[in-house]
Amino acid sequence: MTASALPATAHQGPAVAVASATDAPLRIGPLTLRNRLLLAPMAGITDRPFRILCRRLGAGLAVAEMCSADPSLRYTRKSRERAEHQGEPGPIAIQLLGADPARMAAAARYHADHGADLIDINIGCPARKVCRGAAGSALLRDELLLGHILEAVVGAVQVPVTLKTRTGWSPTTRNLLRVGAIARDAGIAMITVHGRTRACGYDRPAEHESLRELRGLLNLPLVANGDIDSPARARAVLDATWADAVMIGRAALGQPWLFSDIDRFLRDGETPVAPTREAIGALLLEHLDALYHLYGESRGVRVARKHILWYWNRLGQSECHPAAPGVASCPLSAGDASADALGATASDLSGTPERDHPQGGQPLAPVPCHAGSGMGTLAKQLRSQVVRAETAQQQLALVRAAFATPAQQEEAA
Ligand SMILES: Cc1cc2nc3c(=O)[nH]c(=O)nc-3n(C[C@H](O)[C@H](O)[C@H](O)COP(=O)(O)O)c2cc1C
Repeated sequence: MTASALPATAHQGPAVAVASATDAPLRIGPLTLRNRLLLAPMAGITDRPFRILCRRLGAGLAVAEMCSADPSLRYTRKSRERAEHQGEPGPIAIQLLGADPARMAAAARYHADHGADLIDINIGCPARKVCRGAAGSALLRDELLLGHILEAVVGAVQVPVTLKTRTGWSPTTRNLLRVGAIARDAGIAMITVHGRTRACGYDRPAEHESLRELRGLLNLPLVANGDIDSPARARAVLDATWADAVMIGRAALGQPWLFSDIDRFLRDGETPVAPTREAIGALLLEHLDALYHLYGESRGVRVARKHILWYWNRLGQSECHPAAPGVASCPLSAGDASADALGATASDLSGTPERDHPQGGQPLAPVPCHAGSGMGTLAKQLRSQVVRAETAQQQLALVRAAFATPAQQEEAA
């Protein structure tokens, strides 16, 4: 199923100009992607079920959640789940986190031997726990060590090695251009830039000017990341940066079809249509099923909670603004996000990302737009019911009821 196969609620206006650069497939070393849209790795979120959905609904590549290069953690339940790729379409992209060149090289070899087609190195993670161990963003402050790690990993595997970075440790110590040169010299095959420094966390809007500067220096595939949440925004960022691709994280939560929307917009200028309530509900049921399958019922139910609320959020967006689905952020202010019941935090609903990622305690879903629509009240009710549902059966029943069409509701009454 593609997003175009999802029943739509409304048709949109005129086509817009299309840049030819986005028509060509993206090449990363020997790999060819079907388009220039990447799902960002998000610990606790971009597990196999979510990656598979995003790939099917338009993402050209879906990078798995970061995993530690520490060999003592390789066989923990979490690591095993994160290394689970059965049934996932290639290329399989895994991400490594670590600060020791030999361990990083050994971990890369291990994953390449176990099916990874691409190894991504994370030097953007801002988590204190990670940076204390000199990994993640901390490597932005140790360029020498960074170079050793990149060379060791590139030398250890035959598959392409890519880098995901922020623009520097802090606004006053931005070193993206030097990091880019180090990566190029080490043989890195692609660089993704999240347009914030480590110190910025997620507070300020992402900027993409730094990536444009890097473009002038490097002849490598470059990927822009940060706050890209609509087809129009993707187009604007590509045009402004001359990046080869965009990577999307939070905006895909609850709407994995965003990738198809962007893909069609970039290729044909086709403005997206919002999927119907029925289609969103069906997709969510399928997603839940895959989560129960991967995690088992008890954990699957907990992991599923945040996703249910994110999908509900998207439903509210499309039903609230059927005339402009998925094209632009809701005109309501961003402040609504935290006040809305659907500023669902990953931590209060499942606990997983809080431990892994500092963003875990904040509202993950971008601006919801239910004010005045009654959806906000329904969202609060749904949220409390979702937290109470403890079995898959209860959760599925809840979702079926919440996403039922008026005709189905009438039938059930
Ligand atoms: C909950 C959460 C977990 C994340 N985990 C990872 C990760 O495992 N590896 C990584 O490189 N970035 C991680 N990130 C950062 C994202 O990949 C991305 O760079 C960031 O969210 C900005 O993109 P966006 O505005 O499209 O979400 C995470 C972000 C969030 C919100």
